[in-house]
Amino acid sequence: MQTRILGRNGLAVSALGLGCMGMSWSYGPPKDKEEMIVLLRAAVERGVTFFDTAEVYGPYDNERLLGEALAPFRGEVVIATKFGWAPAPGDGARWNALNSRPEHIKQVVEGSLARLKVDALDLYYQHRVDPQVPIEDVAGAVKDLVTAGKVKHFGLSEASADTVRRAHAVHPVAALQSEYSLWWREPEAEILPALEELGIGFVPFSPLGKGFLTGKIDAATTFGSDDFRSTVPRFNAEHRDANLALVQVVTRFAAQHDATPGQIALAWLLAKRPWIVPIPGTTKLQRLEENIGGARIDLGEEAIAELEAASSQVRVEGARYPSFHEKLVAR
Ligand SMILES: NC(=O)c1ccc[n+]([C@@H]2O[C@H](COP(=O)([O-])OP(=O)(O)OC[C@H]3O[C@@H](n4cnc5c(N)ncnc54)[C@H](OP(=O)(O)O)[C@@H]3O)[C@@H](O)[C@H]2O)c1
Repeated sequence: MQTRILGRNGLAVSALGLGCMGMSWSYGPPKDKEEMIVLLRAAVERGVTFFDTAEVYGPYDNERLLGEALAPFRGEVVIATKFGWAPAPGDGARWNALNSRPEHIKQVVEGSLARLKVDALDLYYQHRVDPQVPIEDVAGAVKDLVTAGKVKHFGLSEASADTVRRAHAVHPVAALQSEYSLWWREPEAEILPALEELGIGFVPFSPLGKGFLTGKIDAATTFGSDDFRSTVPRFNAEHRDANLALVQVVTRFAAQHDATPGQIALAWLLAKRPWIVPIPGTTKLQRLEENIGGARIDLGEEAIAELEAASSQVRVEGARYPSFHEKLVAR
């Protein structure tokens, strides 16, 4: 797979990464650990060098999984993890508690290093902007960790363009990780121009629309209460029918290009900017291989324009997050 560069300090990663959240958290029960170890190693064998986790995924189990699975590939792969969105000890229900106080970051980095079994974190993102802590203080804390050799690169997630600028002025931001896909194009307005100007990479999460853009979710699909999508308005029965019109557009376009809808969703993102690195998540080898195939599709300008013209005819209905979570993004 081709390599892309995130940020001006040259963090080199495979053009597509692997999102690992669903292996332990958020999309139903945690998957079998041994099977996920096999999958993670299969991804490395197929050229994936960029893996995405977070302290809160599990919580903690996902970092442990990656630490074990990727131990044989130290120095060959880049593991990104995140701080600032951990549950209070013994209180898994309060997983939405934010904490980016500098002393907290300097404490929890030790846990991530131990679970990932590394001397330094390749890329350390703030998971959500903490309104209680000035972003300059957060960037200052990560800068101290870089100086101490515990972190290599700094990232942010779901931060506004203004917050990214302020953080970047204190310590170079290598990448912003936020939602971006054919059904959430908001980052095109302010985020992408700001990142271009500052030389910061962009890592779209949920690049397959949490699975929706692959065409494998239809009106009959149900989500259990342990699946985050059961709380997301745009997946509600009320909105899903209308939103399936977008999937039909992508599916028709995919057929014309001898590809699957998911591959088109990924190829579209890759074509938008050379410093964009999507991190599709899957727990299945066949789908991993299908997704990797998306990186081999080179959509030209004409095809991109055609896809965007057709997809923008569909009015996507429903919020991308439940209301409590909406307040945590774009700050
Ligand atoms: N920074 C943040 O706040 C944040 C938020 C959300 C996610 N993330 C990161 O971004 C990664 C990716 O996002 P995401 O997992 O939310 O969404 P996604 O990558 O858009 O979609 C993942 C879903 O699509 C399914 N899927 C994957 N490939 C498929 C294919 N080829 N055909 C059919 N279904 C397919 C997966 O199911 P199977 O497992 O069954 O294949 C899973 O349910 C996460 O793993 C996580 O690391 C970060």
